[in-house]
Amino acid sequence: MSGTTPSIALSVVSSDSLAAIAKSEPCVMVIIGASGDLTKRLLMPALYNLVCDGLLSENFAVLGTSRTKMDSAEFRASMAGKEEGLRAFHTRKEFDDEQCDRLMSRLHYEPSNITVEDFTALRKTVARLDAEVGAQGNVLFYFAMAPRFFGSLCETLAKAGFREGPGWKRIIVEKPFGTDLESALKLNEEILRYWDESQIYRVDHYLGKETVQNLLAFRFTNGMFEPLWNKDNIDNIQFNVCEAVDVQGRGGYYDSSGVLRDMMQNHMFQMLAYLCMEAPGSFESNAIRNEKAKLLQAVRVYEPKEVERYVVRGQYGPSHKADGSVDKPGYRQEKDVAPGSDTETFAAARLHIDNLRWAGVPIYLRSGKALWKRGTEIVVEFKKPPLATMRGSAVTQLDANRLVFHIQPTQGIGLMFQAKVPGPVLDLQQVDMTFNYGSAFKASRYTGYEVMLYSCSRGDATLFSRGDLVEAAWRVAQPLLDYWKSHPAGDSFPNYSRNSWGPKAADELVRRDGRRWFEVVTPETLERSPLFKGADPMLLKAVIMALRSVSIEAGEVIIECGAVAQEMYLLCQGEVEVVDAAGKVLAQLKTGDFFGEVGLLASVPRTGTVRAVGRCDLFVLEQHEFFRILRDYPHFAEAMSAVARERYQIAIPARQLMAGSNDHA
Ligand code: BG6
Repeated sequence: MSGTTPSIALSVVSSDSLAAIAKSEPCVMVIIGASGDLTKRLLMPALYNLVCDGLLSENFAVLGTSRTKMDSAEFRASMAGKEEGLRAFHTRKEFDDEQCDRLMSRLHYEPSNITVEDFTALRKTVARLDAEVGAQGNVLFYFAMAPRFFGSLCETLAKAGFREGPGWKRIIVEKPFGTDLESALKLNEEILRYWDESQIYRVDHYLGKETVQNLLAFRFTNGMFEPLWNKDNIDNIQFNVCEAVDVQGRGGYYDSSGVLRDMMQNHMFQMLAYLCMEAPGSFESNAIRNEKAKLLQAVRVYEPKEVERYVVRGQYGPSHKADGSVDKPGYRQEKDVAPGSDTETFAAARLHIDNLRWAGVPIYLRSGKALWKRGTEIVVEFKKPPLATMRGSAVTQLDANRLVFHIQPTQGIGLMFQAKVPGPVLDLQQVDMTFNYGSAFKASRYTGYEVMLYSCSRGDATLFSRGDLVEAAWRVAQPLLDYWKSHPAGDSFPNYSRNSWGPKAADELVRRDGRRWFEVVTPETLERSPLFKGADPMLLKAVIMALRSVSIEAGEVIIECGAVAQEMYLLCQGEVEVVDAAGKVLAQLKTGDFFGEVGLLASVPRTGTVRAVGRCDLFVLEQHEFFRILRDYPHFAEAMSAVARERYQIAIPARQLMAGSNDHA
């Protein structure tokens, strides 16, 4: 990558300064499998963003190919389309027809099968386009096809003579790269038989995310954290990739994959490597990738006994309506999924990094589908100071400092620490210092593929995975796959219901170590309560900051029937039941449910007792905090008054909310 700007630069500049960045290099981009979804949904919007930002070389053309028969005009029409094309999938605030036309004028199409004969014909077309646009012999192949074709594509391209001639030839390969260690080794071997490692760009779309790239920038450009970044100061690290979506009709693919292959072995291990690697000797791609590989090689490869102890798997069951009927199907009832499928849709693990920096620090990973919320966060939890330092005060507990990397949908970084609550006595509360992408930068939203295409064209492989990295990741994942294969889940699946936070065992995995998952409440989470649905982001943020977390033991009463309400609850883990004065169970509430909203608005006596069925983690919003927020932001008080009237049939004027008075009219 000599002479090029590392691609990381593209992701941290605002649109104003994009003009200062060099354009992509001239090339003909050959998309193999161009009639598929990826081209429409991601590649075209990414190319369009590059055109709009003036980052795409003028000497550029796309040649799409696949088995589908169509001509270039039809290809352009389908790519630009309103329903299923660029006009539907672009990511910019406004659509620019002129820029779209510019991009479309560079698109060409020719059908082909993967045969030497057809690819030889393609080569002639590439040569013609090259001469037309002045691509200097550079060709970028994009494999937008099922992985089983990767090996034969490499061979056929080579045999059709694509390696020859002036200019560079590079190949972008989509994931998954292998389905286990053996197939990954074989695939690497097949590809490298015809091409050099430096020509292969293995995509992991997480590396295209601004917030993931920023992990690297954060680690190595902020001196104050580096001295703390080790086993002496960090208690544990948690990686959470929670998805609210189910398999979304991709059962055919997913059933032979599962969350370990689909999310952990690739996306999560990439983030793990960035967060925990040693400082590279430079910011050149191989220096960075060397350190990432070293880190992954230091992750302990588990024996079967360790898999049993440190790894939990899960599969979602159906969700139910209030009358007990099935609302949405469980995984085993999804389309194209085997009825008794053992595929895991959830996994949680404790990993060990056996090197000098991290030995003994638990690294927790958790990911799943059909969970209660969508949210990817990395929580770095620091060691607590000794409570003894607070001798003589009323403080009985100190919380850990936490650095939270919000990867998505919230994008930012939060640093949580203790602050003294204003008042005459020493009382502490966790507060949060937050950096938010949206307010700090005004860059356009990217798909993540722009930076991939751009940096590949410039020969910068920083954001792509290398063969040894992929293999190291498979070495860690393989014992889990083997163990699960020899210990089928059978009747223990499904073990979590849709919209929950996964199986109980995942909670126990962490609790056993005397810790717990640190749950990040996002505005989306809060909006699940009718009270906050559609609320102003600023109000949501203020409320999130005011939430206090508490743990309740099994059987303990959270709300007493008849007591005057003082707060609202969000059930974060566990189950509670609502019982009336006669002890009859009126309702069961699960992870993710809210209760007590009416009481928060108007201090009426509680109509039922709420009791923890098992051990529960809750977030509490206390009324005095809520009213304080409304006093700070009077216009929110107006909005809340309207919500109280419309959604809860409570008449309480805004001024009363602001005054903190809870006697409703
Ligand atoms: C893909 C997986 O790689 O990543 C999907 O195949 C998953 O199953 C997706 O939903 C998640 O990506 P993102 O960018 O939405 O976090």
